[in-house]
Amino acid sequence: MLEEHEDGERLQKVLARVGYGSRRACEELIERGRVTVNGGVAILGRRVHDDRDLVAVDGVPIPTAPGLVHYLLNKPQGVVSTSSDPEGRRTVVEFVPEDPRVFSVGRLDFATEGLLLLTNDGTFAQLLTHPSFGVEKEYLAEISGGSLSPGSLRLLKEGVALDDGVTAPAKVAEVAPGMVRIVIHEGRNRQVRRMFEAVGHEVTRLVRVRIGGLMDQSLKPGAFRTLSLEEVLSLGALAANGAPDKRTRAERRSNLQR
Ligand code: URA
Repeated sequence: MLEEHEDGERLQKVLARVGYGSRRACEELIERGRVTVNGGVAILGRRVHDDRDLVAVDGVPIPTAPGLVHYLLNKPQGVVSTSSDPEGRRTVVEFVPEDPRVFSVGRLDFATEGLLLLTNDGTFAQLLTHPSFGVEKEYLAEISGGSLSPGSLRLLKEGVALDDGVTAPAKVAEVAPGMVRIVIHEGRNRQVRRMFEAVGHEVTRLVRVRIGGLMDQSLKPGAFRTLSLEEVLSLGALAANGAPDKRTRAERRSNLQR
């Protein structure tokens, strides 16, 4: 009888198929101890099953299963981020191929525009949406009520008290009167809109322009493209190795009250 990992595909072959270079280059990665399978350092000769083994290089899970797709969509306004909508509104999956079926990584509100990831890769989606590993997301917000006061700007940067807790520190800059660039790494529901509401401004237009290192000004609203392996891995690396604000919401709240 075969041991658990005596059948399956050789690890170096899997790595080469995914795009890590020649078989020899992949063997070297394994020999250097940079490859893990299900959390344990892999040795040369290891075989894996792409449907059940989690392979990571330098701590970053890699998409080994054939048929995984990762799309970047420029979501237009007036589209829901779910796969179906009981109210019959347009959904983001209508903008990408039907097969294989994909889902969105996180959400953008119905009225929010901009970059959204869609995939059928559950590991990738989980990594990117896990609350403690938030990658940076950058938005351009048009706001009502004129320019931000210095006090509002400071609050947005340091943390705003919302009904689900104080927000983590954000990068915020008013780039023109009533036009604000804001970078957050949390993914709470309607977070940017609620942050501005909390300081007395309504967001009249919201566009996500960056996710981690991903920007794409050439994508027209409604257009999508496939991510390269490098892009998938670098997003995974940011999520796995990022330096999020590890304080709990209670800790943030108490810092703010001091
Ligand atoms: N913040 C919001 O308020 N809406 C979004 O769609 C994304 C972030």
